[in-house]
Parts: sequence; C-alpha cells; structure tokens
Amino acid sequence: MITTKNLTKIYENGFKAVENLNLKVEEGDIYGFLGPNGAGKTTTIRMLTGLLKPSNGEVFINNINVAKDSAEIKKYIGVLPESHGYYNWMTGKEYLTYFSNLFMQDADKAKEHISYLLEKVGLSNKSNVVIGQYSRGMKQRLGIAKTLINHPKVIFLDEPTLGLDPSGQKDIHHLIFELNKSMNVTVFITSHMLKDIEVLCNKVAIVKEGKLLEQGTIKELQERYSGKYDIRIKTSDNIKSIQRIKNIDHIIEVEVIDEYINISLSKSRDLNVEDIKHEIIEKLFTSQIDIYEISKVKTTVEDIFFKLIADGKEELK
Ligand SMILES: Nc1ncnc2c1ncn2[C@@H]1O[C@H](COP(=O)(O)OP(=O)(O)OP(=O)(O)O)[C@@H](O)[C@H]1O
Ligand SMILES: [Mg+2]
Repeated sequence: MITTKNLTKIYENGFKAVENLNLKVEEGDIYGFLGPNGAGKTTTIRMLTGLLKPSNGEVFINNINVAKDSAEIKKYIGVLPESHGYYNWMTGKEYLTYFSNLFMQDADKAKEHISYLLEKVGLSNKSNVVIGQYSRGMKQRLGIAKTLINHPKVIFLDEPTLGLDPSGQKDIHHLIFELNKSMNVTVFITSHMLKDIEVLCNKVAIVKEGKLLEQGTIKELQERYSGKYDIRIKTSDNIKSIQRIKNIDHIIEVEVIDEYINISLSKSRDLNVEDIKHEIIEKLFTSQIDIYEISKVKTTVEDIFFKLIADGKEELK
C-alpha cells in the first residue's frame, strides 16, 4: 500500500531530518510509526502525503508515485495533521460537508456518507453543534471522520491522541481499530502511547534521528528481541518444582533467580508457550506444590523501543 525507497529530507538549513527510509506498509495494516520527539515522524508523514518534497528518494502509494502524481494521490489518502485547526464557527456536519464538497461528490451520497461517519465517530447527537463547543476528544474524532470523507484507502494520523486524557486516548484508539476493520482502511499512525500502540497496531517501525532502526510485525519484533526466559513461576517449593518440570519437552534451561524459577524454552517455530505453561501447572499440581505466580515473560513494544532508543541498534545485535 505504501512503499518508500531511500526517502530523505534535508531541510534548507542543511539539517537532515529523514535519512534513507525504506518503509513497507501493506493493505489492511495499522502501522505504528514510533520515535522520540524530533525523530522525523511528522517530516516523513508530510512527504508520504505529498505536502513536502523529498530531497531524495521516492514514495509509492497504491503503486502511484506521490511526487509525480500528487493530484491523483489525494483520492486515495486522508490526513489528520499534527497541529490541526478546526473551523470553530461551523457545526460538525457543516465541517464534513465543506470537505466533502472539495471532492465534488454526489450530493445525496455525500449526505449519506457524512451521517454514516458522524455515527461511526460517535458524534451524531452533536452534528448540529458548533465545533467551538466540542471537547478536544470530540474535535479529534471529527478530524478522523474528515480523513475518511473521500473513501480513502489509507489514512495518516499524526499523534491523534495528543493532549487527550487516558479515557479519550482509549476512545480514539478503539475508534481507529474499529474503522480499520469495518471500512477496510489502512492506517499509518504516530503516537507516543506505546502500550496502546502495542494493542492497536499489527506492525510498527521505530525511528531515531531520521533513521529507521526496526520495522516489522509486533510478533516478529517480540521474537527478535525476546530475552532469555519465556516463563516465570513462583511456588511453595522451588527445588522440588525444578525436579518435576525439568524434563518437560521444549524446556531447555531452568534457573532460580531470587524467589522465581525462570524457564527458557527451545526456539521452535510451532511451540505454543501456553501449552507448556499448562503442562507445568499440571505437573506441579499433581506433586501438590502450590503455584503462587506463573506468567509468560513477554517483550513489550515499550521494552523494544527503549532498548533501541537508548542503546542504538548496533549494541543490541
Ligand atoms: N522546516 C524545518 N527546517 C529545519 N529543521 C526542521 C524543520 N522542520 C522540522 N525540522 C527538524 O527536523 C527534525 C524532525 O522533526 P519532526 O517534526 O519531523 O519530528 P517528529 O518525529 O514529528 O517529532 P515530534 O514527536 O516532536 O512530533 C527536528 O529536529 C526538527 O527540529
Ligand atoms: Mg511530529
């Protein structure tokens, strides 16, 4: 859906904000574009959407070269920019109608689509209220509805949850998830809410100082950056527990650290950690050992992000 080839931006003052980015977003993805402040995320979005000319490299959306066909590309994309002005004197419905008219859509169909979008973003009952009276969360939801006005294939959301309280952030993330499924729209999103991104996105890229450090599905990255241990347990008798579980298939190492038993599994592709967990529970249960705690040791997007940002990639591999 989106491919970039060596995408680079050097600003007029000579600052290299984006360097040789090769991104790959597939149809249906919710793609999280992550990086600390100043990493080049907004610069990248502006190049992807044809608002800023790359210094080097190319962007293809739906196989169309963005730089060569910037008019055509507008049919396929919707954008919610980082800082976004709303027309406070318009009602939500007038605002969407205004943007719909820019695309010269059939009036009846446009009306129907606007009602549908207002319903989707939970603003039907506020459609005739002026935007000046909307809360920030409502404005952002209206902004998301606006990105969908032209039935785009992909929408770009630059920090859509910025400045919202935790429940407002969750609402927006739920909305994005729902829209991706029900309207079959690919989503390219930047956010600093790493815990939510982990649940929302199927794929992420991590950038620092304009360079791509990692890109892949969350599952791939978790496998790539997983630590030594896979399961952790705390029992009433750790010594006896180790005797009972060490011969379970796929358990390759068992180590006690503090009051926990840390278990490493073989890195077999078809291994289901949940099955091993149940086997352990069964073994300990039949040996009448109490289990106080048992959990899968999971590498989170947040763990990966901080490892990459703090250490630099070279030191990790
Ligand atoms: N017009 C410009 N001229 C020179 N440098 C710029 C210009 N616009 C942005 N920059 C610089 O480019 C770098 C990347 O900026 P960008 O806004 O793309 O980062 P970002 O990842 O979106 O950050 P944030 O998380 O704070 O939104 C920053 O160091 C910024 O100061
Ligand atoms: Mg930004």
